[in-house]
Amino acid sequence: MTAAGTVQVEPTEGAGAAGAAAAPAYDRADWASAFRNVGVELEGVVVTAARGEIPADLEGTLYRNGPGRLERGGLWVHHPFDGDGMITSLRFEGGQAQLRNRFIRTEGWQAEEQAGKVLYRGVFGSQKPGGPLANAFDLRLKNIANTHVVRLGDQLLALWEAAEPHSLDPDTLETRGLSRLDGVLQPGEAFSAHPRFDPGHHGAPRMVTFGVKTGPRSTIRLMEFAVVDDPATGVKAGQLLSDRRDSFGGFAFLHDFAITPNWAVFLQNAIAFNPLPYLLGRKGAAQCLQSQPGGQAKFWLIPRDSGAFAGQAPRIIDAPDGFVFHHLNAWEESETVVVESIYYSDFPSIGPDEDFRSIDFDLLPEGLLEQCRINLSDGSVSTTRLSERCCEFAMVNPEREGLPCRYAWMAVAERETGNDPLQAIKKLDLLSGERRLWSASPRGFVSEPVMVPRPGSAQEDDGWLLCVVWNGARCASDLVILDSATMEEVAVLELPLAIPHGLHGSWAQA
Ligand code: CO
Repeated sequence: MTAAGTVQVEPTEGAGAAGAAAAPAYDRADWASAFRNVGVELEGVVVTAARGEIPADLEGTLYRNGPGRLERGGLWVHHPFDGDGMITSLRFEGGQAQLRNRFIRTEGWQAEEQAGKVLYRGVFGSQKPGGPLANAFDLRLKNIANTHVVRLGDQLLALWEAAEPHSLDPDTLETRGLSRLDGVLQPGEAFSAHPRFDPGHHGAPRMVTFGVKTGPRSTIRLMEFAVVDDPATGVKAGQLLSDRRDSFGGFAFLHDFAITPNWAVFLQNAIAFNPLPYLLGRKGAAQCLQSQPGGQAKFWLIPRDSGAFAGQAPRIIDAPDGFVFHHLNAWEESETVVVESIYYSDFPSIGPDEDFRSIDFDLLPEGLLEQCRINLSDGSVSTTRLSERCCEFAMVNPEREGLPCRYAWMAVAERETGNDPLQAIKKLDLLSGERRLWSASPRGFVSEPVMVPRPGSAQEDDGWLLCVVWNGARCASDLVILDSATMEEVAVLELPLAIPHGLHGSWAQA
């Protein structure tokens, strides 16, 4: 076991002393204590470092999204992913930090606040009071805006993949309302919660994202938006630059994708959707997803309109077995597209009779980082496992998105093998195999680390990692700043806020 806050270096996989076979060292009550309602909205509270110092050259805002309300009128959500979205922001300036948090005023949140009870079903199995009879054939979607948050032009977008984004004020976090992005989206149109930011492979940086309309055939709408104003062309940040639609056979469940300079890479998992239990009020829509025995996963490679293969048809290639929510990165090597993803052996789901707070981690498949090399000339795919340690929420230096990268950072379990809650942050050297771990164990639980490059630095791993950590001892959240090269602790901010285990976030440079 690693003591909290120390850095552990492993020359290669399995060479560490982290106790591969040791029993998990965490207390489930500490992990589960993060599942709670947030009862306050802070407006720019100054937070100082409890340990270390906030770097003076760290200037910008960290935005985080995640469920902030998990219970109403005594009724708990069935899965935390059904909780109402709440944004936390930490603005860094001159070695100081200011903390703010605010619920997104979605239609559903406002109606339920007023009623004081649950009025909607959730996609992940949360039901209205009254059993199946009260839930059957209620197919209204509650856009809970809880998955990701990104800056686009003068707005902050709170994302939830099944419908359009909510637009927020980037400073005050006030909800402006549903956004159709200047008429780009139709009312209720799906808009992914996983945009990818092209750092400028074809000139100016872009936000590349998609929406999926699924059914017996599925249509992917691939969109690219300007992220900076260009006075030379009159293009404004937030403006749609390209837009294409491609249809594919079969039901599609696509949470994330990856980009290279020329391709948008999708992995269609071999799963089926049987909507009957959802229609009958017995299950949430996402609980009706199931691995398709004998099914064939597919890579769908769509040429980007900004790239060398603009206008060409997509490439469809058989993909290895397994289930993927998140990708790390993708890049091109002549005729090969390489994509790195976190694979599960099966689709992890929480059944209708299980309580998410008492799930048995040992019974769920762990996420493992794998690299697939897709040969575009002969359609062959080769797969290599990059690590045996359970991981999620991986990223590369955002300035190198879509290019070969030497370093990756991710949230991992404390144990070297097996499935456990995420308690450590790992830096993986993809070239040498060296691992550096910062651990919050035994009482801390990490969320997605956000890598912030040091401004002006050309060194790939130079910068910081920002991570919200659930501190089980304090029953509140800490913001931990690590040196992204050494993984040494730079500062720990003990936030006057208890943020439930969250989803995704992003950094907006000042
Ligand atoms: Co995600």
